[in-house]
Amino acid sequence: MQLQWLLLLPALPAALAQKDGNDTLLWGAYRPNLYFGLRPRIPESLMTGLMWFGTQDYTSFGKARHTCEQNELDSYTWTEFDAREGGVQVLKDGLNNVKITTELLKVAGGEHGGSWAARVRGEPLRPDEPSRISTIFYLGLEGTGGVEMETDEEDDGIDGEIKFSGNTLQLDDFKVRIKDGPNNHHLTEGPFYEDFKDRVGKTHFVGRPLPSGSIWKAKDHILKAVVDRFREVITRYEAPALPDPSFILTLPDDVYTNSNLFAVQKTFDGPFQFDIFFESASAKQKLSSTTLDQGIPALLEAYNNRFEVAFPYPADYPAEKRQSLSAFSKAVTSNLIGGIGYFYGNSIVDKKFSYEWDEDEDAPLGSDGETGARLTEPKALLTATPSRSFFPRGFYWDEGFHLLHIGQYDNDLSLEILRDWINLIDQDGWVGREQILGEEARSKVPAEFQTQVPNYANPPTLAMAVTAFIERFKSQSTARGVPDQDLGMDIGTGQVPLSTTANTVPTTNAVESQYLNSPELAFSFLKSIYDPLKRHYEWFRRTQRGQIKQYGRKARSRTEAYRWRGRSEQHVLTSGMDDYPRGPPHAGELHLDLISWMAFFSRTMKDIATFIDEKEDAANFAEIEKAVIDNIEDLHWNEAEQMYCDAGVNEDEESYHVCHKGYLSLFPFLHSLLPADSPHLGAILNLLHDPEHLWSPYGLRSLSASHPEFGKGENYWKGPIWIQMNYLALSALHKTYAAQPGPYQSKAKAIYKELRKNVIDNVVKEYERTGYVWEQYDPLTGEGKRSHPFTGWTSLTALILAEKY
Ligand SMILES: *[C@@H]1O[C@H](CO)[C@@H](O)[C@H](O)[C@H]1NC(C)=O
Repeated sequence: MQLQWLLLLPALPAALAQKDGNDTLLWGAYRPNLYFGLRPRIPESLMTGLMWFGTQDYTSFGKARHTCEQNELDSYTWTEFDAREGGVQVLKDGLNNVKITTELLKVAGGEHGGSWAARVRGEPLRPDEPSRISTIFYLGLEGTGGVEMETDEEDDGIDGEIKFSGNTLQLDDFKVRIKDGPNNHHLTEGPFYEDFKDRVGKTHFVGRPLPSGSIWKAKDHILKAVVDRFREVITRYEAPALPDPSFILTLPDDVYTNSNLFAVQKTFDGPFQFDIFFESASAKQKLSSTTLDQGIPALLEAYNNRFEVAFPYPADYPAEKRQSLSAFSKAVTSNLIGGIGYFYGNSIVDKKFSYEWDEDEDAPLGSDGETGARLTEPKALLTATPSRSFFPRGFYWDEGFHLLHIGQYDNDLSLEILRDWINLIDQDGWVGREQILGEEARSKVPAEFQTQVPNYANPPTLAMAVTAFIERFKSQSTARGVPDQDLGMDIGTGQVPLSTTANTVPTTNAVESQYLNSPELAFSFLKSIYDPLKRHYEWFRRTQRGQIKQYGRKARSRTEAYRWRGRSEQHVLTSGMDDYPRGPPHAGELHLDLISWMAFFSRTMKDIATFIDEKEDAANFAEIEKAVIDNIEDLHWNEAEQMYCDAGVNEDEESYHVCHKGYLSLFPFLHSLLPADSPHLGAILNLLHDPEHLWSPYGLRSLSASHPEFGKGENYWKGPIWIQMNYLALSALHKTYAAQPGPYQSKAKAIYKELRKNVIDNVVKEYERTGYVWEQYDPLTGEGKRSHPFTGWTSLTALILAEKY
């Protein structure tokens, strides 16, 4: 990276370093809900998208491709993707007999986030059958500024390159050019060719003025323009003697005044290729097809080398699987990073809503005292998405896992995303668990799930991202030879050991990181998130508190007990394990998973406070952490059942344990809260390793196969295998229970090995069989289930393969 020399300067100005590193993240495939959609990380600005349809018949037009849909394409994934440099995506469309490849090359330079070039290529999936594709690429401008078509309009379409120019405050002057590849073919025979021969093979276009906030509906407007033209022309013919669809399903070649949406259509017969160039004026580079011809192979070579550094192929896997497993790891990692979206808009919050069991509290309305469902101020968020088709928006519970994975490849990108999430923490310390920002995001969410309630929580996984960053920073510093005692603490006061800035050793992070190599930057980042994170932590302790003494419960700490608010009879959506069996709702119940998350969160707060030298806070967090862990034993361990359980309250107002064997029972282990010599560890390992209960050849089941509700009802968390939970188990085994001496160490080692293999083998097998990674896997057959592609936390499989925990 060209910035490397900057790291040699002892007193690197933080703002400068952040700006330069950040600049390469301005443009991106930040519309992951589209098969191919680029936009900058600016609230209202230029948005682009790609659509296509087949012209082999008239009906395929009704199935035009644009937004990622389940059960539409055979598969689609970025096979290589680097957020700063670009990547390659492969989309297989069986219905239209085409494999489309989208290549993106970002070209840094200038003062406005640089330029980019994209190539769209198509070739038949089945070479002996026709492949007739019409592609439409569009650009639309939201907000102030303007775009116009520079190329002269022609009634029958345009031969050769088509050019647009535009300007916005943040992008400054730019040009967009679209240019055909050298070997495209067009249908030059077929019904009524003579009538259309002046138009065939040309680029067709349209320009329309759209009201503010509606560029995301570009597809409707563009297809309407095609349909309007079709209606006009078709009157000259009589069924069944109709022109070939490729002749007649075209844009009208007109541009209305004040247009802010432009679309460019090309129609092909057989393999095709065209290039799109976005040139930022201040970058002063002229991009051409040669830029792509040379840039893409160079990008791929660099990517492959970097990938090896971050995700080394494991020594214990056979050499002959290397190619397929590496391709798998790259694809899931790339689609996770290529699935990062930038969202901007308002969301719906209801401050009044409350279930009866949550009602008797002085629990918080918002600090402004407002009630009722209402729209918030618009907010911006850069976030990974669990599934480009089904969940193209920000999910709190998933995001911590995403950031573990992204941080392993590009640490600084994971911090940019973390910072955006931290910015969502409100004055009370709350963050909505689903971030459905703006109308486009809401269009994918059923109405009943759109409203967020400010006393509802979600597993605080952002804490995992913080801990992971601190760990990466420490191991990077150790690699540089900085003694442990020099980490954290003194760093902020400027007493940086010379060795930390004197050289930049190769990192285990794929992309050169400024934050991992600069103690000042690491310190200032952690310091900047500390206050909001602490507010968030205190919000959890205040609003999700559970009752102890009311029901005669005995516990060493009188304060540390927790209960998810906002549960219904059948669901605890806030816990993230929606329909996992629990006791009946009651104001006095206590939730094991939440108290375990709180122990983990306390530990994270202790780590960050220690790092930034908040000594008193650190001591306080350490005390709370201990109190929480003591209370997990005192309130949640059931000696007769030999397991950890929720606690409920019966009709006699007495406390009892609610015990359902499954993921919930594992939580104190999953977060490494039990010491390696805990007398309860053996029972947990037995439970998870028992095929009658959680153990399957495909990974750990969410609910015991012997439980009466196993596989019943919605069957979301009643048996199916979830990869992020398996990741937590593997991480606890690898880092704690197989690593530290204790009576169960050898058992933990054996389980680790077996579980890791089971998870990898099954996810990869299903990927190869179906073309997708899945939201969850069947607990009896291992088959992929529900949303796909699910390159959110299921892609952690790549970390499991590389043993990065
Ligand atoms: C990075 O750039 C984005 C978009 O321009 C901006 O919102 C964000 O605050 C920047 N981050 C830093 C650390 O400057």
